[in-house]
Amino acid sequence: MMEIEAIIYDLDGVITDTAEYHYLAWKALADELNISFDRSFNEQLKGLSRVDSLELILQQSHQTYTAEEKRQLAEKKNEHYQELIQKVSPNDLLPGVELFMKEVKQAGIKTGLASASKNAQTVIERLQVTNLLDTVVDAAKVERGKPDPEVFVTAAKQLGVPTAHCVGIEDASSGVKAIKAAGMYAVGIGKEKYLAEADWVIPDTSHLGLNSLEMKISEDNQA
Ligand code: BG6
Ligand code: MG
Repeated sequence: MMEIEAIIYDLDGVITDTAEYHYLAWKALADELNISFDRSFNEQLKGLSRVDSLELILQQSHQTYTAEEKRQLAEKKNEHYQELIQKVSPNDLLPGVELFMKEVKQAGIKTGLASASKNAQTVIERLQVTNLLDTVVDAAKVERGKPDPEVFVTAAKQLGVPTAHCVGIEDASSGVKAIKAAGMYAVGIGKEKYLAEADWVIPDTSHLGLNSLEMKISEDNQA
């Protein structure tokens, strides 16, 4: 039976709904460039770095863009995103998340953040959850983005916990892939059709609970 020694959270779309702000900022940029962009296309961007997301969007265009134009477009999206996150406050923690994070800490389980975002530090400060996280690994600290496992493996290393004793929580397909590639137990938050590779898929964060997680892990062991 796997004993949970650490829980490593994704940020955008797991702890708070900034995934929606990333969507809105990309959507505005795509509209401006006359590139078709909808929520279903956005699913594959979730978890990807800013530059990787932009590349996928621009692939939908007939036009070619220079490196300098791409840099400006990425910057424009980020400025819009940063405007949107200015109003983030502890009220924006997703349902049940704070309770779960506290429950986990109280159980003596270590906690970490594994985010692809360069804005992660700002967001967790605004949410006031910094004290509930023993380590924070963001895009600035790793070379390879999700679905590469580096960000999750780095967080586990910093916590001094073998990845086989870690649970990762993600809302993105690329993120679930990263967790599995790291050798961790994967919890997916959202729709089964996007997160089929996760060990446990729950529709939203209100379903998070340490007891139900442990029960699911022990059920999986018996199967
Ligand atoms: C991830 C989001 O957390 O961060 C992606 O899921 C986003 O949608 C990525 O593109 C990079 O974020 P930022 O803030 O560095 O542009
Ligand atoms: Mg996410």
